[in-house]
Amino acid sequence: MTNLKLPEDFIFGGATAAYQVEGATSKDGKGRVAWDTFLEDNYWYTAEPASDFYHQYPVDLKLAEEFGVNGIRISIAWSRIFPEGYGEVNEKGVQFYHKVLDEAKKRGVEPFVTLHHFDTPEALHKEGDFLNRDTIDHFVNYAKFCFEEFGDKVNYWTTFNEIGPIGDGQYISGKFPPGIKYDFEKAFQSHHNMMLAHARAVKEYKEGNYKGEIGIVHALQTNYPYNPENSDDVRACKLQDILQNQFLLDATFNGKYSDETLEGVNNIFEVNGGNLDIKECDLEILNEAKDLNDFLGINYYMSDWIRAYEGKSEIFHNATGDEGSSVYRLKGIGEKVFDVDVPRTDWDWIIYPQGLYDQIMRVKNTYPNYKKIYITENGLGYKDNFENGKIDDQPRIDYVKEHFKAIHHAIEDGANVKGYFIWSLMDVFSWSNGYEKRYGLFYVDFDTQERFPKKSAYWYKELAETKEIK
Ligand code: BG6
Repeated sequence: MTNLKLPEDFIFGGATAAYQVEGATSKDGKGRVAWDTFLEDNYWYTAEPASDFYHQYPVDLKLAEEFGVNGIRISIAWSRIFPEGYGEVNEKGVQFYHKVLDEAKKRGVEPFVTLHHFDTPEALHKEGDFLNRDTIDHFVNYAKFCFEEFGDKVNYWTTFNEIGPIGDGQYISGKFPPGIKYDFEKAFQSHHNMMLAHARAVKEYKEGNYKGEIGIVHALQTNYPYNPENSDDVRACKLQDILQNQFLLDATFNGKYSDETLEGVNNIFEVNGGNLDIKECDLEILNEAKDLNDFLGINYYMSDWIRAYEGKSEIFHNATGDEGSSVYRLKGIGEKVFDVDVPRTDWDWIIYPQGLYDQIMRVKNTYPNYKKIYITENGLGYKDNFENGKIDDQPRIDYVKEHFKAIHHAIEDGANVKGYFIWSLMDVFSWSNGYEKRYGLFYVDFDTQERFPKKSAYWYKELAETKEIK
């Protein structure tokens, strides 16, 4: 068998997000986020206690060091710094992140810091979230504050995590607050406005001459036509791709939307209604930032097979891991076919490592001004079985290994991929699936907050040490 070796300077990281790990949702002056209310009203769980990272961060970072995890994605909770999203600074929140960053340094774990991971402060959310352009200004001010305050300790900044799923969750599937469904105008407009916020924050960072790098994380999901011979399926697949990927990649690297992208958006609006507000000065800002991204983070979990669909929009979100219950059909776009002959998770996420290779190569070939790529999230949601302190999560090892092979293949084919962050470092709570959908290298007993390394943690340690995919 050929030797599958990754570069010596490759980062073998673990990912987290503030709201999914910290707990302490109202402690030490933290402001509320829209999710606090949304979970209380609609779900059977809350973000308490999550993984209690607010207190357990020394434990998690020590484990990271022991298991060869040399990078951690964390996010800053905007409302810990500015409880209302702007105005007075909450000093205790600032000190918390200083402590986390100092601990990461002590443990030799490189922090990759995200400014916004789904958790807009509730006060701003109530005013329209990113549909309100004032939120863009507040975000840029918050970003500037973080660059000044933490700039010495952070080498890698990410503006947003997954603009695509935010807009889609908020305004198409309704599984994110404010829970609106099938409003394509709002979804695309929020994508555009967040891309503007990203571009402005990147410009600020570069103009401030801070020492590190800055980029953005997109959730790229690969879509394939159900029947590649059928032109309606091919068209449906293209529209789904524009909604999920192409609109955002265009804004990031081209500084404008291609004619094909805009035509796709208009096709969706013709059927569903809608109009985009893109100002001339917006395009100037996007254009000024398009070559300033130091890296692209790709979150990749699954691929989809899309077929044409003419009926009314209908989405059923499988939140419980009841395999085969998902429904995703969008009027004027297409339908996801879940029962294709490809393995899928209990939550109907289709496991297809080739899709990761295809997305990396798509970025390399279509957006040649990308500089480097980190796989900022990838992993398997799984109902881990805890037996006497041991967790045999072989399916997770198999999943991650196959995705590493896809990354290796892409590197061989000339893509500049510099690191991988498994989702997630330790078990975390999942926004719309609760605590049973586990992803971590370290099992968390959410009652006692004890951590237990899973079989995958030992496998990952060996991978990080040898850099060989075995
Ligand atoms: C990504 C997010 O979309 O996928 C994470 O950045 C999220 O925050 C992860 O938890 C896995 O999704 P889920 O729905 O299984 O928790």
